[in-house]
Amino acid sequence: MNHRAQHPTRLARRLLALALLPLAGATIAQEKIKVGLMLPYTGTYAALGVAIENGFRQYLDEQGGQLGGRQVEFFKVDDESDPAKASDNANKLVKRDQVDVMVGSVHSGVAMAMAKVAKDNNTLLIVPNAGADAVTGALCAPNIFRSSFSNWQPGYAIGKVAGERKFKTAVTLTWKYAAGDETVRGFKEAFEGGGGKVVKELNLAFPTVEFQALLTEVAALKPDVAFVFFAGAGAVKFVKDWQAAGLKDRIPLYASGFLTDGTLEAQGDAAQGIVTALHYADDLSNKRDQAFRLQYAKTYKLQPDVYAVQGYDAAQLLGAGLTAVKGDIKNRDGLVKAMEAARIDSPRGPFTLSRAHNPVQDFYLRQVVGKANKAIGVAAKGLADPARGCKM
Ligand code: PHB
Repeated sequence: MNHRAQHPTRLARRLLALALLPLAGATIAQEKIKVGLMLPYTGTYAALGVAIENGFRQYLDEQGGQLGGRQVEFFKVDDESDPAKASDNANKLVKRDQVDVMVGSVHSGVAMAMAKVAKDNNTLLIVPNAGADAVTGALCAPNIFRSSFSNWQPGYAIGKVAGERKFKTAVTLTWKYAAGDETVRGFKEAFEGGGGKVVKELNLAFPTVEFQALLTEVAALKPDVAFVFFAGAGAVKFVKDWQAAGLKDRIPLYASGFLTDGTLEAQGDAAQGIVTALHYADDLSNKRDQAFRLQYAKTYKLQPDVYAVQGYDAAQLLGAGLTAVKGDIKNRDGLVKAMEAARIDSPRGPFTLSRAHNPVQDFYLRQVVGKANKAIGVAAKGLADPARGCKM
């Protein structure tokens, strides 16, 4: 062996490195980005999980199957909206499948467990629905993003409207877990700030749907307005039971828009006239939304809803980051900076992220007419979550 080969000069080393550079680039481009989808595919939120995945895939398809020049490989787990199984499920994605990014979930309790796993392992997490205030509050972190909303936001938006409409007393009714508690808290903050009073907070365990005794109680309390948070299959049953109990024409029903989103086919007559607030509506006239809805209906033979939009925007957000770092997902600082600075051209209307990585967005005032949540105004413009407890 000659002396030179064993001890290459600095120049030779540089030449070797230069020769290998294109190879390193090629390896990055060839390796797929591993996306872990942790969503409910069974249970009361099953349709929501499917819509989120559909939306995510739609954006990816529009980009020719690539984000930042890289193909995407999916790893899926059905989280069953069960917080007790959430840490194990998230750890499977992170440790066994070694995903580059987790996308999930719908249920606030599941998302909080995911945020903890994401923090412990410094894994990138994009939450495409769950509103748990802590995700962009006390648990906020550089690697945690949300493409949806915080629970406080829609509650606050509709509470503000209820206050402006001069209702004096309200009864609230929801599932007893973070999403219900926090949405009610947002409602109460705005409603009482506007001069109203929440006279009773009623709850039942998630995801139970034995509403009868509680509806009897609401009827007896005779509030000026009722405020509820329910979603998915549970929301379908609630709206039908509300009508069957004879409350539909007696007590105005206000809600965060999840009560009537993706549910109108099944709710039919019972949902007509319900007033809600949400960061999406079915008749926004922007071009982006029209194109999104057409394509979604064509691909999935389904009408899109807010969940599909949030899934679509989760992919857009990831795409914005990956494009900026040319697919190098290991360039975390560059990726995070680009995601933080992104202006997402969403079907809901454009939005940016707050310091805590939660969308700053308009909340539309909506009313159910036929099979659509029609926008009848804006309940709160450019609403930012207060990000209580976020130190970042
Ligand atoms: C939540 O648990 O955060 C949640 C679930 C379903 C929704 C909205 C929020 O539609």
